[in-house]
Amino acid sequence: MCGIVGYIGHKCARPILIEGLKRLEYRGYDSAGLAVLNDGQVAVSRAVGRIANLEARLNGDGANATIGIAHTRWATHGGPSERNAHPHIAQNGRIALVHNGIIENYRTLRTFLEGMKVCCQSETDTEVLVQLIGHFYKGNIEQAVRDALHEVQGTYGIAVLCADEPDRIVVARKGSPLIVGIVGPGEYIVASDAAAIVQHTAQVVYLADGEMATIARDGFRTTTLENVPVTKEVQAVEFSLDQIELGGYEHFMLKEIFEQGQSLSMTLRGRLNTREGVIHLGGLANHTRDIARARRLIFTAQGTAWHAGLVGEYLFEDIAKIPAETEYASEFRYRNPLIEPGTVVIAISQSGETADTLAALREAKEKGALALGVINAVGSTIARESDAGVYLHCGPEIGVASTKAFTSQVAVLAMMAIQLGRRRFLSQPEAKNLIDALARIPGQVSAVLEQSEAIRKAVEKYIHRENWLFLGRGYNYPIALEGALKLKEISYIHAEGMPAAEMKHGPIALINEGMPVVFIATRCSQYEKVLSNIEEVRSRGGRIIAVATEGDEHIREMAQHVFYVPDVPEPLQPLLTVIPLQLLAYHAAVLRNCNVDKPRNLAKSVTVE
Ligand code: AGP
Ligand code: GLU
Repeated sequence: MCGIVGYIGHKCARPILIEGLKRLEYRGYDSAGLAVLNDGQVAVSRAVGRIANLEARLNGDGANATIGIAHTRWATHGGPSERNAHPHIAQNGRIALVHNGIIENYRTLRTFLEGMKVCCQSETDTEVLVQLIGHFYKGNIEQAVRDALHEVQGTYGIAVLCADEPDRIVVARKGSPLIVGIVGPGEYIVASDAAAIVQHTAQVVYLADGEMATIARDGFRTTTLENVPVTKEVQAVEFSLDQIELGGYEHFMLKEIFEQGQSLSMTLRGRLNTREGVIHLGGLANHTRDIARARRLIFTAQGTAWHAGLVGEYLFEDIAKIPAETEYASEFRYRNPLIEPGTVVIAISQSGETADTLAALREAKEKGALALGVINAVGSTIARESDAGVYLHCGPEIGVASTKAFTSQVAVLAMMAIQLGRRRFLSQPEAKNLIDALARIPGQVSAVLEQSEAIRKAVEKYIHRENWLFLGRGYNYPIALEGALKLKEISYIHAEGMPAAEMKHGPIALINEGMPVVFIATRCSQYEKVLSNIEEVRSRGGRIIAVATEGDEHIREMAQHVFYVPDVPEPLQPLLTVIPLQLLAYHAAVLRNCNVDKPRNLAKSVTVE
């Protein structure tokens, strides 16, 4: 996905647009551009690569403009190039547009336009939209946008400028986020994400799918695509600017790993009653009974969120005794899933904008399931389309590699499992023990973080090994998957996670002299089995990196490196065992000079299929 920023007011627009793009650069960063209205003309600047390249391109033309739009791109159609960078300009040179999403019928529209002697200059899907707006323009830019969007299939978050109407920006959304920030009288900033808005205002309006708005110096008006006025509630943004700043850390990812004591505290705050052993999840209040009676529970997500769902599957079956399964949203949405009465679907998503997860949620609702969301981004599309849900409240996660959001997702799922367990077979003392242990977790994170330098030194020994294995059992099997994903996505080392027992069914053939194999070998119901798996790897020359329970000296005799986590109940171990693996991946990426916060080919939220 990409990042969109727009500004209209009395200040110079360009510095505000550039600053806003920099706060959205994590959303996509293969090229960038901006357009301002200056002396009755559209002044456009575009550059390949980082925002800094665009900044270097800016000249005097448009420096004093007070209205503009900007875009940082994550290409879907047409490679990263200046020609394909946004903003795209209508053939008449008078209209500029930036877009987040995919115009799925762009080929048909391009053919129609060519029949009207309107030729596209780029390889993108986006350009057909601005050309279509130019085609429909008859002196009213809002109406031209409306007419063009009626022809479009696909997803969009757009901002549009017209040189003949220099006092307004037209925005619209369907499937990609757009937020309007109210800075002051006649001063507005619009963006894909509040991170680009919070330094200007905390007062925002979240546009919903199918809505558009005209933002002008005398105010803004929101309507549906059919021009039906819509009254929108002004909301306060949850997080502050410093929460999206680096705060002295070298990378956002490291900040967010080290923030997990605090972020878990924020996730648990107000939700654990340790005295009575009760969980309060306000967002589910009206649905707890239905969920407790669920005949089947399906977690659906992608990537790291899917790994959280897999932990959730173990938690719900173990603690709440509810049949559960975990589905990749991209598969779930297309395989005509069986949704019988009594099915509950839980979509898990940090951004709340992942296209496949959103589509899976919609498919579940279409088939009559109760559709819940476990989401971080407040007001995000998945959050607003869920029947109910639980926010992570872990603060904005900027690093592309998800860390604190993962532990907060697991914490929310643990709370849900305990709460539902109490409506089924979990005794009050059992619940209280788990809740007391959960309440202690944030304070136990620091004991793991303190091993960061030791982890870095261990990783240094294997930094040139291009193949790693991550092995775990039970609750720690999903953590093996997550550890492998972390290493892959930021250090570009190939890694594979699997159940420890599965190694003998093929992957053990990979073990060669010096191969690093990471085991999650905490005190758990399958501890002895994991030790046997470690021996199998050792006897073939593998190097063992183990995550173990504090006080376990035996494991030291078997592993080249041991990193410890505090002793907690098995269902809660994932909250801590993932942290050494996050640090392992982080240090590997730094040692390999990779771009930790903006790994190649990745984006923070995949809002395209
Ligand atoms: C995780 O480190 C990755 N960045 C990626 O797998 C991510 O978890 C996935 O794209 C889902 O994103 P979401 O949680 O915002 O839906
Ligand atoms: N599909 C558009 C393009 O490829 C926008 C991509 C995005 O949303 O990042 O330029």
